[in-house]
Amino acid sequence: MSTYILGIESSCDDTSAAVIKNTELLSNVIANQDVHKSFGGVVPELASRAHQQNIIPVVDYALKQAKIKKNQLSAIAFTRGPGLLGSLLVGTSFAKSFSLGLGIPMVEVDHLKAHILSHFIDDDTPKDHPGFPFLCLTVSGGHTQIVKVVSPSEMIVLGKTIDDAAGEAFDKAAKIMGLPYPGGPIIDKLARLGDPHKFLFPASSMKGLDYSFSGLKTSFLYFLRDKLKADDEFIENNKEDLSASIQFTIIKMLLNKVKRAINETGINEIAIAGGVSANSGLRKSLDEMAKKHGWKTFIPKLQYSTDNAAMIAMAGYFKFLDKEFAGQDVTPYTRSSF
Ligand code: KG4
Ligand code: ZN
Repeated sequence: MSTYILGIESSCDDTSAAVIKNTELLSNVIANQDVHKSFGGVVPELASRAHQQNIIPVVDYALKQAKIKKNQLSAIAFTRGPGLLGSLLVGTSFAKSFSLGLGIPMVEVDHLKAHILSHFIDDDTPKDHPGFPFLCLTVSGGHTQIVKVVSPSEMIVLGKTIDDAAGEAFDKAAKIMGLPYPGGPIIDKLARLGDPHKFLFPASSMKGLDYSFSGLKTSFLYFLRDKLKADDEFIENNKEDLSASIQFTIIKMLLNKVKRAINETGINEIAIAGGVSANSGLRKSLDEMAKKHGWKTFIPKLQYSTDNAAMIAMAGYFKFLDKEFAGQDVTPYTRSSF
C-alpha cells in the first residue's frame, strides 16, 4: 500500500506544502512573501501573518496538483524548527488541527535534516541518491554545517559556523553594497559578469571544521568605506567584480573545510543542501574539485535548494516508516536541536 505524506514548511518567509507518494514527489507548492523586500530582511511579525493567510490555499493547491483527496493522506509532516517562532506556530497549529480533523498521525521534522534528506526525493528526473554514510555541507540563511549523515535518523555535525551563516555572509555583503534582500541570488547573478580575483578579501580559517564569516563581512565593510571616500561611485562601477570577489572568498572558505572533512573521514560522497547550495559558483567549484580528487557529488535541483515542503514530506516519510509520531502537545523550537 502506498504512503501519502503532506509536508508543511513555514519556518521563515516561504509558505510551502507538498505531497509525496512514498519517495515520489506529486506536488510542491511555494508561496513567497514579497512583503519583506522593502525592509531589507524578514520581518517576523509580517511573516507569521502572511503564513496565516497563505497556508490554506497553499495546502489546497498542493492536494489538487497531487490529484489526491485529503482523506487519502497517511500522515502530515511539518517543520518543528529551527526558525521564527511565529512562523513555525502557523505550520505546527495547522498540522495539529488537520491531523485531528482527519484522524491521521503527525510527524515533526527538523528543517536542517530535511534540507539534507531532500537528496532522496524522486521526481521526473531519475538520479542517484547518496549512499550512507555521506557528508553534507548544509548552507542556508541561518546555518552552515558539515554533517556526517549515517542514516536518515543519525546525523553528526562535524563542524559549524561560530557566528554568521554563509547565507548571511552573502546577504550582508549585498546589503553593504545597497542591494535588496535576499542578496545571495543577486550576488550570484552579478558575479557571473565579474572578475573573482579583482579584489582580495581575507578568508579566515577556524580550527577544525568550524567556520567564521563575521570577519569577512567587517573587512568588506571597511574596504568599501575607504574606497567610497575617494570615489562615491565605486560600488556602482565595480559591483560585478565586488560580487565575484566576495563570492569567490565565501566559496573558498566553504570548500577548504569540505576538503578537510573528506580527508579526515575518508568519506568521499559529498552533498550540498540549503539556500546557498543554489549558488552557481559553489556548484561549479565543487564539481571541479570533485573531478580533480575523485569525489562523488550530489547537487540538488534549484527548487530543493531553497526552502520547500517537498523536503519536509521526504524527511517525514522516513520517520513515518519508523512510526515516530508527534503528539498534540508538540511545540516548535527556534534553535537547532543538533
Ligand atoms: O535554506 P534557505 O532558503 O532558508 C533558510 O533556511 O535560511 O536559505 C536562504 C539563504 C539566503 O541567505 C539567500 O540569500 C541564500 O540562501 N541564497 C543564495 C542563493 N540563493 C539563495 N546565496 C547565494 N547564491 C544563491 N544563488
Ligand atoms: Zn532552509
